[in-house]
Amino acid sequence: MTDISADQWQSLKEHATEAMRKAYVPYSHFPVGVAALTDDGRIVTGANIENASHGVGLCAECSLISNLVMTGGGKLTAFACVDGDGERLMPCGRCRQLLFEHSAPGMLLDTISGIKTIEQVLPDAFGPRTLDAYRRNHTT
Ligand code: THU
Repeated sequence: MTDISADQWQSLKEHATEAMRKAYVPYSHFPVGVAALTDDGRIVTGANIENASHGVGLCAECSLISNLVMTGGGKLTAFACVDGDGERLMPCGRCRQLLFEHSAPGMLLDTISGIKTIEQVLPDAFGPRTLDAYRRNHTT
């Protein structure tokens, strides 16, 4: 786990709020912005991007993960999510899974109930190691 300073949390929250203003939300009118710190010191952001075919709308976290991969990859070490008022918001279940795949062990989240790790908000997660373990036992 990488501890981050109050200033760094503030900066992540500001980046998330700025990203939130770019959300495309003509259907829910519920903008979401996210920002995360990477293990090589970048800040990546995202906003939700909805669609007339409602089920294919993208959560803000999808947009952040795309930005992460397209700007050099790496692992996320700290994450913040805000709603349209710039208030803390919990990532939905699907997005916790998305974040888990790209998180450094112990990635921190600024949650509505304090700073938590990714393992705390997605206990006993299914992930790449689950697949690796299965493959190890089934190679001929
Ligand atoms: N939303 C996100 O972008 N991330 C979350 O973690 C929670 C929900 C979006 C999806 C949809 O565009 C809007 O919030 C209302 O559900």
